[in-house]
Amino acid sequence: MEKIVIIGEEPLQGTIEISGSKNASLPLMAASILTDETIVLKNIPNLADIHTMASVLESLGVNCNKSDLINKNIIQLNYHGSDKALAEYDLVRKMRASILVLGPLLARKRKATVSMPGGCAIGARPVNIHVDALAKLGGEFNLEKGYIKCEAKSGLKGAKIELPMISVGATENIIMAASLAKGETEISNIATEPEIIDLIDCLKSMGAQIEVQSDRRVLIQGVESLNGTTHSVIPDRIEAGTYIIAGVITKGELQIKNVNFDHIANLLSVFENLELNITRENNNLIVKESSVSKNISLDTKEYPGFPTDLQAQIMVLLSLSKNASTIRENIFENRFMHVPELNRMGADININGSQATINPCNGFSGAQVMATDLRASVSLVLASLIAKGETTINRVYHLDRGYENLENKLAGCGANIKRIQ
Ligand code: EPZ
Repeated sequence: MEKIVIIGEEPLQGTIEISGSKNASLPLMAASILTDETIVLKNIPNLADIHTMASVLESLGVNCNKSDLINKNIIQLNYHGSDKALAEYDLVRKMRASILVLGPLLARKRKATVSMPGGCAIGARPVNIHVDALAKLGGEFNLEKGYIKCEAKSGLKGAKIELPMISVGATENIIMAASLAKGETEISNIATEPEIIDLIDCLKSMGAQIEVQSDRRVLIQGVESLNGTTHSVIPDRIEAGTYIIAGVITKGELQIKNVNFDHIANLLSVFENLELNITRENNNLIVKESSVSKNISLDTKEYPGFPTDLQAQIMVLLSLSKNASTIRENIFENRFMHVPELNRMGADININGSQATINPCNGFSGAQVMATDLRASVSLVLASLIAKGETTINRVYHLDRGYENLENKLAGCGANIKRIQ
C-alpha cells in the first residue's frame, strides 16, 4: 500500500499549474456514447478516476485511446456500438460517477443495466433522482440484484421534469439523455456547476440543441443524432481552491496558473472576507502566507455557493485563525471523516450534527494519518505541509483519484514530500 510522507514547515515558492477538471471530464467521457463519431477531449487530467471511467466505457463498446493522456492530456473516444449495455458492479463500485453512463445508454441503446453505485465514505448517495427523471423520458426501470435495469422500447420522449432536489449527476444524466429524446424537454431545478455548463457546451458542439435559462431551467430540443467534436476541459476549480489554501497557510509565495476566475469567484469572495493575501496578476493568482485573524460561519451549498468539495480543505485554514469559525455541511450527510485525523494532528474541531466548530489551535504536529475520501485526504496533505515534524498519510489511492501529480506539483515548489511503498 503506498503512503505519502511529508516533513512540514517548508516554505512553498514557485508556480503550480491547475489541471483539467475531474468532475467535468467524467460526464464528458460518458457523452461519447451519444455519437458514433470520435470525441477528442483535451486538458483531461491523468487521474485514477479517468482510467476507471475509460474501463467502464471500454466494457460498453467505447474505444478509449489514452496514448496521449500522460504527456498531452488528450483522450480520444469512439463508441462503435455494441449490444453490451451492462456496466458491471466490479467497475461501478470503484467510482460512483459511472452512473453517468445510464442516460447516454438509454438514449442510444434504448436499454441499460448499470450496477447501483452504492454509497461511499461521504454518504449513502442514492440515485433515485436520476432514475425518476429518466423514467419521465420513458425509461422503464426495475432494480434486480443490485443492478438498475432499464429500457425504453419506443425510445425516449421529451417531457417536463422538475428535479426534486439539486443534483449534479442527475442533471448531467438527464441532459445527455434528453439530447436524443424525441421532442422538447424542459428540466427545472437543475444544478448549474461549471462542470455542467462545460458538458452542455460540448453537447452543443456535437449538435445538441440546449438552451440554459435563468432560474435553474434548461430547454432541450431532441435531435436524431449527434456528431463527434473536439473539446477542451475547463480547469479544476476544486484543485485551484486547494492550492490557494496551500499558498496561504505555508510560508513563501505561490503563483497559480490556468485558473478560470468566473468559476472561483465565490471562493475568492470567501477568501477576501478572511483578508487573505491573494492577488490577481493577468490570468494567474499570486498567493502569499497570510495571518488568519478573522472568523466566518460558512454553509456548503450548490454552485454558486461554497463547494462541499472544499469543506475539508478550508477547515485546515480556519484552524489557524485566532477566532473560532463554523462550517455547516449541507450537501452530504457524512463528510467530516477528516476531522478526527486533523484533531490528531493538533486541530480543535468539534462536530455537532452537520455543523463543525473550528476553534483556534496551536498549529499542527506530524502524525500517522489515514485518508478516507478524496477531499479529506488532501486536507491531511495541507495540514502536513505546516505541521511540525513528519506526517505519513496512508491509503493515498484516494488522492490519486482527484489530484494530478500532487507530489510533483508541491515538491516543485519546495515541499518535502515523497511517496513510499
Ligand atoms: C458530484 O457528485 C461531484 N462528483 C461530487 O464531487 C460533488 O461533491 C457533488 O457533485 C456535489 O457538488 C462528480 O461530479 C463526479 P449530487 P454527485 O448528485 O453528482 C443527493 C469529488 O470529491 N442525491 O449533486 O454524486 C446526494 O446523496 C466528488 O470530486 C440523492 O439523494 O452529487 C447528495 O447528498 C465528491 N439522490 C446530494 O444529493 C440522487 O439521485 C448532492 O449529490 C442524487 C443525489
